Amino acid sequence: MPAKTFYIETFGCQMNAHDSEKVIGTLIRNGYSPVETPEEAGLVLYNTCSIRDKAEQKVFSRLQQFKRGSGKGKVFGVLGCVAQQEGERIFERAPHVSLVCGSASYSRLPELLVQLEAGENRVTGLSLNRGETFETPLTRRDNPHRAYITIIEGCDKSCAYCVVPFTRGPERSRTSAGIMEEARQLAGSGYTEIQLLGQNVNSYRDPSPAGWDFATLLSRVAAVPGIRRVRFTTSHPRDFGRDIVEVIDAHPAICNHVHLPVQSGSDAVLARMQRLYGRDEYMRRIEWLKASPRNISLTTDIIVGFPGETEEDFHRTLQLLDEVEYDSIFSFKYSPRPNTAALNLDRAVPEEEKGRRLTILQEKQRSIQIRRNSALIGSVEEVLVEGRNAALGQWIGRTSQNRVLNFASPATNGDSLLGRYVSVRVTRAGPNSLVGEAVLRA
Ligand code: 5AD
Ligand code: SF4
Repeated sequence: MPAKTFYIETFGCQMNAHDSEKVIGTLIRNGYSPVETPEEAGLVLYNTCSIRDKAEQKVFSRLQQFKRGSGKGKVFGVLGCVAQQEGERIFERAPHVSLVCGSASYSRLPELLVQLEAGENRVTGLSLNRGETFETPLTRRDNPHRAYITIIEGCDKSCAYCVVPFTRGPERSRTSAGIMEEARQLAGSGYTEIQLLGQNVNSYRDPSPAGWDFATLLSRVAAVPGIRRVRFTTSHPRDFGRDIVEVIDAHPAICNHVHLPVQSGSDAVLARMQRLYGRDEYMRRIEWLKASPRNISLTTDIIVGFPGETEEDFHRTLQLLDEVEYDSIFSFKYSPRPNTAALNLDRAVPEEEKGRRLTILQEKQRSIQIRRNSALIGSVEEVLVEGRNAALGQWIGRTSQNRVLNFASPATNGDSLLGRYVSVRVTRAGPNSLVGEAVLRA
């Protein structure tokens, strides 16, 4: 294997982003150094996503770029969800790949690296049966203020459209002691925001005798000295209990934002999706959240064009948007995925019709967001400063409700505000972000 340098590109969700941070830490511990471009690297890794076909295609187009000539002498590896889903077929589709490893096997990476270094060119980590979680003190976090902590890996639900149970394996929770230790260490090294991660965080079940549920874990993490913000994603509506709302109410450090994917507003579609809840059950949770004095921001995921979705079903989803008034949504056209139950459903919705529905849905949501964001003009919000837009002379902050709020701050004397908490008065609003001015303390 050529010089021990590596480059990694990450696709997909926050779980993947955080997995890459752990993989990078592991590589560095094993003598590898990161470089800025794939051209410079001896080892080129892609941490992949297969949630929709488009995401899966990305890795193959990347690999294609290196098929001949420019990839010579390099070692290529495919990690993550496409690796787990396609397994050894990847070696056929892209013969210059030498490593295929799913997320449930990352704890084996050191031994897999040794095999690669010995010149093996068909190295795999594909077992889903290991009941373990990938815990490593070697995580290389790429944000100095906000840190991810995985609390639960895998998924035991079987939503008819979803590859995740096949790519990330069965559900397994970390021990509460391990999570609390990580949270305290992060606070000790200056992190002020923690984001708890899992496919279904609210299915969390402490495997140790302490036996904490998710609400307990959330309240304990929020009480760690130095931690000013706690977020969590993603929640499954079926397991979302009222106790979680009560914990948010009781702990100002828990951000007032809940992402609760609904997928569809139609009971018939929800049933075919095997989501394990109906519209009324979902709306009951929304009512609990709306009744909270914390003014909790709500966001969701929606799939349009699931097999059998009629125009009337689709209208139920549009009505739901009006009823809930989300602050933002992620919306997708249904994409058939390998191994999933939905492949056996008839009455596929034509691509063109999916596109039409998606546009209508997104336009409706855009006007809801303009209205909701405009209502914030004049209010003062606390933001955590995450970046700087030099061209506009603005700082980029994020509110507790997870809105992006860009602001000017005249009196900083050139000091960096990165990582600081600043009060900002909102002066303008767009559909996706707010603009404001720092409020100077008297
Ligand atoms: N097609 C389209 N969207 C999907 N999602 C998951 N699987 C599919 C699929 N096969 C969406 C869901 C999920 C989000 C992460 O991705 O809305 O909540
Ligand atoms: Fe993509 Fe889902 Fe895998 Fe995340 S868990 S990388 S969203 S397929």
